[in-house]
Amino acid sequence: MTDSFRVGRAGSNGAAAAPSAGAAAAPPAGETAVRPGGETGVLPGRETGVRPGRETAVLPGGAAVVPSDRAAGAGEQADGLGALVGRVAGTEDSTPLQFAVALDEDSYLQLDDVVVTVRHIPGVGSILTSGVVTQVRARHEGASFGSDVFLISDGVLPARVQEIAEVSTTRVEPEVYVPPRPGEIVRRASGPERSQALYFDQMASRLPVGRGRDGAPIYVNMEFLDGTRGAHVSISGISGVATKTSFALFLLHSIFRSGALGARAVNAKALVFSVKGEDLLFLDQPNVRLDDDLRTAYAGLGLPAEPFASAGFWAPPIPDDQTGRPNVTGRTSGVEAFWWTIAEFCARNMLPYVFADAEDERNQYTIVIHQVATRLRLDAAPYGESGAVKIGDDVVTTYAELVDVVVARLSDEQTRQDWAGPVTGVGTVNAFVRRLRSSLRPLRPVIRADLTPGPRRLISTQDQQVTVVDLHNLHERAQRFVVGVVLAAETARKEDAGPGGLLFTMIDELNKYAPREGTSPIKEVLLDIAERGRSLGIILIGAQQTASEVERRIVTNSAIRVVGRLDSAEAGRPEYGFLPASQRTRATLAKPGAMFVSQPDIPVPLAVEFPFPAWATRRSECAQPPRPPAAPRQDASVFSRLPAPDDDVPPF
Ligand SMILES: Nc1ncnc2c1ncn2[C@@H]1O[C@H](COP(=O)(O)OP(=O)(O)OP(=O)(O)O)[C@@H](O)[C@H]1O
Ligand SMILES: [Mg+2]
Repeated sequence: MTDSFRVGRAGSNGAAAAPSAGAAAAPPAGETAVRPGGETGVLPGRETGVRPGRETAVLPGGAAVVPSDRAAGAGEQADGLGALVGRVAGTEDSTPLQFAVALDEDSYLQLDDVVVTVRHIPGVGSILTSGVVTQVRARHEGASFGSDVFLISDGVLPARVQEIAEVSTTRVEPEVYVPPRPGEIVRRASGPERSQALYFDQMASRLPVGRGRDGAPIYVNMEFLDGTRGAHVSISGISGVATKTSFALFLLHSIFRSGALGARAVNAKALVFSVKGEDLLFLDQPNVRLDDDLRTAYAGLGLPAEPFASAGFWAPPIPDDQTGRPNVTGRTSGVEAFWWTIAEFCARNMLPYVFADAEDERNQYTIVIHQVATRLRLDAAPYGESGAVKIGDDVVTTYAELVDVVVARLSDEQTRQDWAGPVTGVGTVNAFVRRLRSSLRPLRPVIRADLTPGPRRLISTQDQQVTVVDLHNLHERAQRFVVGVVLAAETARKEDAGPGGLLFTMIDELNKYAPREGTSPIKEVLLDIAERGRSLGIILIGAQQTASEVERRIVTNSAIRVVGRLDSAEAGRPEYGFLPASQRTRATLAKPGAMFVSQPDIPVPLAVEFPFPAWATRRSECAQPPRPPAAPRQDASVFSRLPAPDDDVPPF
């Protein structure tokens, strides 16, 4: 047994934690109360008698009053971390997994505080039970009626305010699961005891994810993030205040810069799909709001307050523009335009990713999709330098032309069987054609052979640590296409390369790509990553407003679950069953920057606060805003984003 288990050892701040004479006295004794009207009785849970070492005043009418300054010397014990805060309460059942603490009058415990108590068992030794405060209650002991509070305040009725903290056990060391006994001293855990209570001492490599309520760092076990024992992160919370995207990026910053990955950090990469505005296009720029306080907050977590040094940015090209410039407005330099040529689309079997909506799943044309994809793969011959193809006599340089060729083949009696499958009915073929036509406008910016391909056209995670793919200017259907195609390619690349560096893939609005109901090629890719990614080195960091809308197998495969502010209806759903009842309620009040982090090692999710981003999250936060692009291009891109008459009507 180590010294730290012994009661009475000085806390890390040097405050003596030994109980004083007053605090070590017998369990609280009671006093006789007299209600106005002369009714005399024993206060609930109390014996008649005078507390040892305390003065008792007698009020007119004979009532005994406990002096407000309870146990002598209480102040000495409760003035800092590691100090005595109270005793295991005897009014509620104490169990090895849950117990209550009656607090000294001069001490307090707040939610998420970490406490320890030690029980000595003859022949076994000292059993240290540590836990996290999940609820604190204060009440007048001795009051029976709502109106008693006035009498008590006036000193007419004797009663005392007593605070009781409920504690969820996090660790019992050694593993002898006995209840802490009422009357045992309870201390605030600090230093090594806190680390032990929260299992930080057992983490071979630990990742700082923010500060606890006590200001000290909270860690996540890296082994549950890097695939060693688990992988994947699921972050949920309502839009705007839950800070899901900010936390996901902070997590990446911590992964790359905390040293938790050791030498593996050099080869670790991140692939970030950005769906909301151009917020993530500035993460290589320092935030103008970065001040000394923020630097100190980062330093306290062992992290530099710096932007992402190695980042590459991709955005789709401006539609109907022949220069191949990226469709971004806030940043011009350093953003590459990405697209796939018609030849790549045909050769790499990308057609299924065009049909990835819930609506596609309800229809019967899957066979047609695969048949057409096969024909394109076999019949499309590369043509020219820009990625065009020739199908029969038809030269195809745009997505619109490709759609026309496919529709012509399906409409022609001679070729239909070959392109749609031998037993496919005309109705099914027509349904396919309608959906194919509706993909025209969403997809034509990213599937084309009318631009001169540059050297960095294809999205690649090779040359930089963080790869940001900006999708916000694309139609949802095209967003799904891009995410599906890029992830499938990365999965295949990782499979071929064998175990190598880790790839952290951050997907915002995961529910759009892997909804709970139905199947789609993109959902298949994501499920594959959720289930096999660990061994491939692909780690998913998914964010969504509602975990209840995301495929269950993805959520259950996430070792780390994080919750920011939730709305109360969502907080009640079974997906958040890992949160104790009190944390569910608290999640409805969580402020920006406050998250609850659950990890397999620790039975209670931990509340953390992470610092404000050190990198710019919008153009106005850049110290030197990147140059704006030429005005006419902006106009073109704005109008191109308006829905066209043939666009799909959303299914709501
Ligand atoms: N640590 C922090 N402390 C306080 N505020 C923060 C912190 N991090 C981010 N914010 C602020 O909170 C706002 C919302 O953050 P963020 O965009 O990450 O939320 P979100 O949950 O991803 O929202 P959405 O669902 O709309 O994408 C940001 O504009 C940012 O200014
Ligand atoms: Mg977000």
